[in-house]
Amino acid sequence: MLVRIIKLAKKTATIILTRNTYGRRYLLRRALKLGQHHVHPIDAYYNIRTSGFIPNFLNDPGSNIVKIATRENNHYAGCQPSCLRKALQSLPDTSEFVFYDYGCGMGRALATASEFAFRELIGIELSEELCTIAVENAQRIADSFPERARISVKQGDAIAVELHGDNLVIFMYHSFGRATLTSILNKLEKLAKDGRDIFVIFENPVNGDLLEQSTQFGRWYAEQVPCDAEEISHHSDADDGFVVWRSINAITADRSAYNKFEIVITKPTWRAEVVRSD
Ligand SMILES: C[S@@+](CC[C@H](N)C(=O)[O-])C[C@H]1O[C@@H](n2cnc3c(N)ncnc32)[C@H](O)[C@@H]1O
Repeated sequence: MLVRIIKLAKKTATIILTRNTYGRRYLLRRALKLGQHHVHPIDAYYNIRTSGFIPNFLNDPGSNIVKIATRENNHYAGCQPSCLRKALQSLPDTSEFVFYDYGCGMGRALATASEFAFRELIGIELSEELCTIAVENAQRIADSFPERARISVKQGDAIAVELHGDNLVIFMYHSFGRATLTSILNKLEKLAKDGRDIFVIFENPVNGDLLEQSTQFGRWYAEQVPCDAEEISHHSDADDGFVVWRSINAITADRSAYNKFEIVITKPTWRAEVVRSD
C-alpha cells in the first residue's frame, strides 16, 4: 500500500512539474470514474454527473507549484444543494437577476439554482473537461425542465468575466485563493458603486474577511447550515457556512441581526465556519 502511495505521489509530482497534458487527463479521467462510485442524490434526481473530488492540479492546465500551494485555484467538489437552497431562500424576488457561479465545476450549484426564479444562470470554470460535463448537465436540465431559466457555461478564469445584467447574484464555493478574490471584488465594488444591485453568496467563506472589509457590500444573511441527512455522506462535514452580502446602496431593510455571526477559520485555507458571537 505504502509503495503504491509513493508511486502515485511521484507520478503526480512529475505531472505537476512537467505539466504533462496526457498524464493530467489520464489522472482526471480516473478521478471522475472514482466519483461514480458514490453518486450524489442530486445526480440521481436530475440524471446528471457532478459527483466526486478532483484535486486542483488536475483542473488547471496552466497550474504551477505556487498556484497549487496557495490554492489560488481550488479543488473541485460540488456544493451541498440542501445548504445552498437555504441561502437562496434568503434572497428577495430574483426573477430579474442573473445568477453567476464563479468556478462552477460540473454545474451542481447551477442545477440547484435553476430551481429558483432567475433571468439566466451562467457558470464559469477553469477546467475544460469539467466545463464539457457541465454543458451536458445543463442540456439535460433544459430537456427535463424547459420552463426553467437557461443555464450556460463558459470556460475561463473568473477574474476575466464580463458581467451582464443590472442585477446579479454571484455564487462562490471556496473556488479560489485570496489574490483572485481580491481582483474579483475590486471589479464588483466598481459595479456596486455604479448602482448595480449585487448579491454575493459565499459557501465556506475562507477569505470572506475581504468582503467584510468592503465599503460597497453589507451583510444580508449568515448561517452555519446543516446538510440534509441524505447528503451528509457526500461531504467532509455535516454542515457548511454561508454568508450573503448585498451592494450597500440596495439594502433598505435592517439586516443587523446577521452581524452577530462571525466567520471563523477552523482549518487554514480549507474551512470557514459561521459562528454566533453573542
Ligand atoms: C469547490 S468547486 C465548486 C463547484 C461548484 N461551484 C459547486 O458548488 O458545485 C471550485 C471550482 O472552481 C474552479 N476554479 C478555481 N479557480 C477558478 C478561476 N479562477 N476561475 C474559474 N474557475 C475556477 C475549480 O476548477 C473548481 O472546479
